[in-house]
Amino acid sequence: MAKHVLLCPPAYFDVVDQKNPYMSEKASIDREKAQRQWQALRSALEQAGCQVETIAPAPGLEDMVFAANQVFVGFHEGLGKFVVPSRMVHASRQREVPFYVDWYRQRGFKIIEVDLGPDHLEGHGDLLWHPDWSRIYAGYGFRSTRAGVEKFRDAMSKLEIPVVPLHLVDPYCYHLDTCFCPLNHEAVLVYPGAYAPESLATLRGFWKRVHELTAEEAHKFMGNGIVANGRYLTPYVTPHLEAILRKEALAPVIVDTSEFEKSGGSLSCMKAFLP
Ligand code: ARG
Repeated sequence: MAKHVLLCPPAYFDVVDQKNPYMSEKASIDREKAQRQWQALRSALEQAGCQVETIAPAPGLEDMVFAANQVFVGFHEGLGKFVVPSRMVHASRQREVPFYVDWYRQRGFKIIEVDLGPDHLEGHGDLLWHPDWSRIYAGYGFRSTRAGVEKFRDAMSKLEIPVVPLHLVDPYCYHLDTCFCPLNHEAVLVYPGAYAPESLATLRGFWKRVHELTAEEAHKFMGNGIVANGRYLTPYVTPHLEAILRKEALAPVIVDTSEFEKSGGSLSCMKAFLP
């Protein structure tokens, strides 16, 4: 069955502030180029056999193209498909959330509201499923807060889904999806320097093979790829990453995301897989 994936066209994409260390006041976005790069991502996903769905972009929401962050998307035997709305750190990003929640609600997803209070939770920026849906890895420290992740863990425990908190320490890896990419049920790609030592040790226990990216690779978003149908979509590749992918029987497909990198995001940030 084709994997369904949600994207948001970059019609209003821009860099207007500095939400992470990649963003600069002086950055200027070439919106036509961004549109071409987004279209190339869409085609690469379709060529990998994915069915692409889109949400309408809203004016004034400059980061809405990053479709990974507004909700956490899940599936549970008893409950069916559900989402947990995020509480984003930045006000302009928080305004994206209701658009996404409505999109999912209209498609039959249950909405699980977690009472986050003053805490933050940033969807699939920080919350990533093990590929067999057996547990959720949860990054915190820059965007999602430790207590936010714990409140999420309490909510998931009612569904008997374990959540593994991971403490992030590298500001260039401010979301878990910049330093953690499951390749299959047994292998994960990580950048070890992004984690507090205990968290790295915890993470290792859940995988047969842990492949390590260098800082240079991670900071160029090579750990922010998308796995689809035997391919690894990535903005760049090195001989080192190619060797890792070969071991896991994945073929690299380069998709240029230079405009989006100015905003601190790349391929994985721009999509949400739907169950
Ligand atoms: N400019 C966006 C922000 O800082 C980038 C989001 C990247 N998304 C991600 N899943 N890592 O919020």
